Amino acid sequence: MIISDNTFIAVVCFSKLRLQQAKEFCVTNELPLLKSKSDRYDLQLLFHDDLIELFDRQLQASIAIDFLRGKLAHRQHFGGGRGQAIAKAMGIKSGITPRVLDTTAGLAADAFVLATLGCPLTLIERSPVIACLIDNAIERASLSENFQTILKQGFEVINCDANDYIRHRLATGKPAPDVIYIDPMYPERKKSALVKKDMQILQHLHGKADNTAELLENALLYAGKRVVVKRPIYAEAVSSRTPDTCIKSKKTRYDIYTIKKMAE
Ligand SMILES: C[S@@+](CC[C@H](N)C(=O)[O-])C[C@H]1O[C@@H](n2cnc3c(N)ncnc32)[C@H](O)[C@@H]1O
Repeated sequence: MIISDNTFIAVVCFSKLRLQQAKEFCVTNELPLLKSKSDRYDLQLLFHDDLIELFDRQLQASIAIDFLRGKLAHRQHFGGGRGQAIAKAMGIKSGITPRVLDTTAGLAADAFVLATLGCPLTLIERSPVIACLIDNAIERASLSENFQTILKQGFEVINCDANDYIRHRLATGKPAPDVIYIDPMYPERKKSALVKKDMQILQHLHGKADNTAELLENALLYAGKRVVVKRPIYAEAVSSRTPDTCIKSKKTRYDIYTIKKMAE
């Protein structure tokens, strides 16, 4: 499996408890396993007893996901609930909590917001490194009662390419989600200071590969009600298709493509 386009990655395991898990991850993804950090690798997935984090040697910074503390928990309590642009874009209203397929899970921030608003979710992430960070965040959060409610409602992570996932679901006649959500990597900006550190680390991991136009076409074939694409406010739509409507916030635009069902 191609894990990254342009970066050397290694796994560093500091924990006896996680050694077997780290070994299996390395075998599956053909990555070297180290006992301590090394200057030879740009990105290093660090396995501690509890936490798994991704360390970027160039930025001297790490990312990990935490559903219980920090930014995500703050947004859950003070983020504006159903009044947020993302909630409106999904069609969340009193008594309506659509089933969402998040095709670009990333650090699962948007998925977590939607889950806290009551949406059942399937998260698709093609990078095994990022999927590993999400799995670890779920493992740590699952001790909390509030997060158990989210898990019961539906918060499943699948490590694969969303195009393959959708094609397989279509071919096997599986029920469609109400909404398919796409949040591609943002177009590169000249001033890298404008890109947050966690997104810079994602860019180092993923390079510039982009298949969003193909993903939009597949999503339109499969979604029950709508496809929502997140864009920076300054960016063009992801393909020549014009969205049916847009919901805007200060820095972000949600392009909404409504599914028109043929009369039977
Ligand atoms: C901008 S990030 C998403 C951020 C996410 N919405 C959040 O709130 O944290 C984009 C992510 O989508 C993933 N991705 C891009 N194309 C994909 C595809 N075709 N299938 C699955 N994952 C994909 C990338 O690996 C990356 O982690």
